[in-house]
Amino acid sequence: MEYLNERRDRIETRLEAVLDGTEPAALREQVRHVTLSGGKRVRPMVTVLVCETLGGDVDTAVEFAAGIEFVHNASLVVDDIIDESELRRGTPAAWAAFGHGSAIIASDGLLGEAFALFSTDERAMEAVSEAMVQLGEGEAMELADRPVSEAEYMELARRKTGALFRAAAELGAIAADADVYTVEAFGQYAERVGVAFQMRDDVLDATADAEQLGKPAGHDAEMDRPSIVEVTDLSPEAANRRARSESEAAREALKSVDIPDSEPVDYLRDLAEFVVERDR
Ligand code: IPE
Ligand code: IPE
Ligand code: MG
Repeated sequence: MEYLNERRDRIETRLEAVLDGTEPAALREQVRHVTLSGGKRVRPMVTVLVCETLGGDVDTAVEFAAGIEFVHNASLVVDDIIDESELRRGTPAAWAAFGHGSAIIASDGLLGEAFALFSTDERAMEAVSEAMVQLGEGEAMELADRPVSEAEYMELARRKTGALFRAAAELGAIAADADVYTVEAFGQYAERVGVAFQMRDDVLDATADAEQLGKPAGHDAEMDRPSIVEVTDLSPEAANRRARSESEAAREALKSVDIPDSEPVDYLRDLAEFVVERDR
């Protein structure tokens, strides 16, 4: 665990340093509230671990890792407005704490900081832009073009969550200056991890409580959101099994690249398992 904690600390330090540079003070306070409130940091860890798996420089990876966490946080701020969720990470959601206007400004501010971090690298810009297009399409599908079958649900989860996970991994490979084939293989791994992550998230929404999750529970049913259990008639247990098979497919994707055994790649395998076993 020491290994992972050390990486997580470096990501945390970078997030704080970037946020400390934001102005004015009111915005700084808000982006700090949103970002430094105890997220799991799964996406930035993917970036760093992929980069290390490929023998890349961790400092470059940490820049991109911080960037992808900012994009994720910006998307959560808007998602909580759309979902009318008052709680996020066990603390008031941005809109509940500061009002809608300020929350939207904080979200835009976070996106600005993120793109400043990616702008040094054209490939990084491309990877993240693509993910944001998909994320927008996913959120739109959720509201306006609702999935009615399991296959359509999978497409929604891929866009809404898989795409940002994909970008996180691609950024790690890009930081390691990998070739396009390798970038794609790690991208596929992470996209599947992201889909599995979303399925597990939907199951937890239906089965866990708000205190455990740090965000509202039972919210998908209440808001009539197309979660895996709402769209299909799968039981939570069956939906979990689907998530596990997606996680296995993610680990299979890692086998398509010729990489030596190492600690970081072991953690990438573990991470695919963690996302479907997690309780929050
Ligand atoms: C929540 O993501 C949004 C989903 C894609 C389900 P996380 O569960 O990674 O949120 P934090 O960053 O740990 O709060
Ligand atoms: C996930 O949305 C957030 C994004 C992908 C933008 P959800 O509504 O499914 O997740 P929670 O439950 O709010 O974290
Ligand atoms: Mg939500």
